[in-house]
Formats: sequence, structure tokens, C-alpha cells
Amino acid sequence: MNELTAISDLSISSREYELISRLVYDRFGINLGSKKQSLVSNRLRKVLIENKFSSFKAYYEHILNDKSGASLDILINKISTNLTYFAREQEHFNYLKDTVLPELFYRPEIARDNSLRIWCAGCSTGEEAYTLSMVMHEAAGGSRSKWKLDVLATDISARALKIAESGIYKDENVEKMQTNIKHKYFQKTDTGDWIVTNEVRNKVLFRRLNLMRSQFPFKKKFHSIFCRNVMIYFDTPTREELVKKFSANLIDEGYLFIGHSESLGRANPYFDYIRPAVYRKKA
Ligand SMILES: C[S@@+](CC[C@H](N)C(=O)[O-])C[C@H]1O[C@@H](n2cnc3c(N)ncnc32)[C@H](O)[C@@H]1O
Repeated sequence: MNELTAISDLSISSREYELISRLVYDRFGINLGSKKQSLVSNRLRKVLIENKFSSFKAYYEHILNDKSGASLDILINKISTNLTYFAREQEHFNYLKDTVLPELFYRPEIARDNSLRIWCAGCSTGEEAYTLSMVMHEAAGGSRSKWKLDVLATDISARALKIAESGIYKDENVEKMQTNIKHKYFQKTDTGDWIVTNEVRNKVLFRRLNLMRSQFPFKKKFHSIFCRNVMIYFDTPTREELVKKFSANLIDEGYLFIGHSESLGRANPYFDYIRPAVYRKKA
């Protein structure tokens, strides 16, 4: 048996899984629980083989000793689940366009600045952030040019952000978009892919940011935050702490959208329940 075969035969021990899942929890808040041992093993095995680590313990120790943080970046790229798509949970975008944005556009303090900011927290490969920008454009309609409509899109995965920044997507990624929206906000590339138009791309800023930071580095508060299908990976104390930080970074009566399978409960200290997965910061 050669060395590579020996390594590929290795599976993760319970103790090794405990060490790696604790590290992922401590650094990124992701709670892998006790049932993801084979998933973690499968996702990381290639890294072990390519880098000739003799065991998961050796790999774990390498991550701890790598002061550059590069090994930790690779770990989170492999562990995080980046599933997303354009116009996911479409009712949210309809509600944003038809109710939330018109209401925000008319608030005197917002209309005075002609500026609206949405934070897409946990943006993965960018589809949600670009959809938000398109919806903001649509909602502003003919007055679009007088508004500064910005989306800040953040994620922990550098791999996902690289795809997001390119703004290039395969046919199958955009096929579910309404045809008029697709043709308005995408152009076909020479290779048959679709690229988001500059008008939209210029309004979306992608940045790497760990939601576990004790404080966020923003100068201005957001009018709305989308953090959908991210907190499902966190445990209750982590979620509660994050929701508190979201509240600190939203304007009074700003909106928080979470995933449709998630809930803050109806008695949250910072937010009022508006409709499923939509909350408004208490004034
Ligand atoms: C399933 S995707 C959700 C994408 C998009 N929001 C949606 O609903 O389609 C979850 C994203 O959360 C990101 N994530 C997980 N933990 C994070 C953390 N601690 N800080 C920032 N992003 C994180 C992952 O990298 C991943 O891209």
C-alpha cells in the first residue's frame, strides 16, 4: 500500500472530530454537533492527502501552529455550506420591494440623505446580494438616479467571495430569474455564462467578515440586514449574541430578514415580529 492510499483509508477518530469541531465552533460559531463526523472527514480528506498529513490530529495541529491563518481559511472554505441561489425565498424580495423599501424611501431622515444601505450578512457566492441590489433598483424606479443604493455583502469564505466578486454565473444559476429581470441586469459573456451588469455590480461591495467578531467595523448603520440561512448553523447563545449585534448596527425601526426556516421568537428584546422571518428593530 503506498502512502497516499494509506492516508485516503484514514477516517477521523471521535477525538479528532471533537478537536476539529470545537475549533470550528470557537472561531466561526458553526455548531457541527455530533452527527457530522463522516461529512467533516469527507470534506477534509483531500486536504490531508494533498498536504501529506498523516492523520487528522496532525492536520489539526498544523492549523493551530499556522500563524498566517491560511490553513484556517482553507478549513472554513471546506466546512462551510455555501448553498444559495438567485431570488431564493422570493416572498422576501417581493415584500422588500413592495412594502419595506417604499416605506423607507419616504422616511424623512432617509429621504433627506437619498441614501439606503442593506447588509447581506453571509452572502456566500453573491446571488442574494445581487438580487438585493436589483430589487433596490426596481423599487426606486424612475428616481433611481437620485438615490445612493448600496449593498454590503460579507462572508467568511474567501472561496465563495471570489465567485461573488466575479459576478459571473452559469446558465442554470440564472434560469429561474424572471426573464425581464435577467435581461435587464445580466449580460451574456463570450463563453455563454451570465455576468451581472456594471450598474448592479458597482453597488455591491464584497468583504470578508467573521460574524463572530465581538464588534462590527461599520461607520454607518444599515436600513436593513439580510442574514438568511446562516444562523441555522449556530447554537442559541451564538444566535442571540449575533442578533444583539445586528440590532446595534441597524437604524431604529430598520428591518432584519432571516431564513424562512429560522425564527427569533415573538418576544425578542430587540425586534418586533412583522411576518414570517421578517423583524423590525424596536424604536
Ligand atoms: C447557506 S449559505 C447562505 C447564503 C445566503 N444568505 C442564502 O440564504 O442563500 C451560509 C453562509 O454563511 C457563511 N458563514 C457561516 N459562518 C459564518 C461566520 N462565522 N461569519 C460569516 N459568514 C459565515 C458561510 O460561509 C456561507 O456562505
